[in-house]
Amino acid sequence: MSLLEARGLSKRFGGLQAVHDLSFALAEGEMLGLIGPNGAGKTTAFNLLSGFLRPDAGSVSFRGRPLVGLKPHAICRLGLARTFQLVRPFPRMSALDNVKVGALARHAHPAAAAARAAAVLERVGLAGKQGVRAAGLTLAERKRLELARALATEPTLLLLDEVMAGLNPAETETMVQLIGRIHADGVSILLIEHNMRAVMALSHRILVLSFGERIAEGPPAAIANHPKVIEAYLGEEYVGTAPA
Ligand SMILES: Nc1ncnc2c1ncn2[C@@H]1O[C@H](COP(=O)(O)OP(=O)(O)O)[C@@H](O)[C@H]1O
Ligand SMILES: [Mg+2]
Repeated sequence: MSLLEARGLSKRFGGLQAVHDLSFALAEGEMLGLIGPNGAGKTTAFNLLSGFLRPDAGSVSFRGRPLVGLKPHAICRLGLARTFQLVRPFPRMSALDNVKVGALARHAHPAAAAARAAAVLERVGLAGKQGVRAAGLTLAERKRLELARALATEPTLLLLDEVMAGLNPAETETMVQLIGRIHADGVSILLIEHNMRAVMALSHRILVLSFGERIAEGPPAAIANHPKVIEAYLGEEYVGTAPA
């Protein structure tokens, strides 16, 4: 049985079909990459899977349980956690307290949640930043804080939304290694990522979205040479370089 299965997911915003008839499965222990040009519907797909948006059509099952209609916190308690592309930590709260918010999903006792949060901060390389307010962290540290907040909920499946965006090459490499370690510890991962080298290195399989639809799926090497994928990304490049 798949750990996560989406069938026929669709979501429309007014006249825009953001996600259309999306079906895929993720096996236990898998690292699945999700790529596609800006606006392809990747974050919307995450919102549908994690209960932040309700699909217009389609179903999601996680460990055999239907998720549509459940609130995000209930889905999180079942073991599905996600990070946000636009990280918004509580800026005046310490790194530790930010992560403690995630840990409280599992540990009702504040001391137990704090201990869990400290352990997770150490795991993401922020042990020395426990008392620093989130607003005082660098972007790379805030990305790791966001990862820690999700990890503190003790997920079976982690959905990562562009956790490497804005990082320099050295910070990106640190993040790739960290994601690899989290996966090796037994967490299944669905990874939205624009950094092709990172997503190719980490993923077992890659799913490609364009205009809300799945246009390709396969192992990294096949995806890198897939004509539809090349076309979708060339399109984005042309848009990006078109005269104003
Ligand atoms: N809450 C929303 N309301 C209206 N349009 C939205 C909303 N969220 C996303 N969109 C639109 O849906 C499309 C897909 O967005 P998104 O899922 O964020 O794409 P991606 O993450 O692949 O860049 C975009 O055109 C975006 O502008
Ligand atoms: Mg996005």
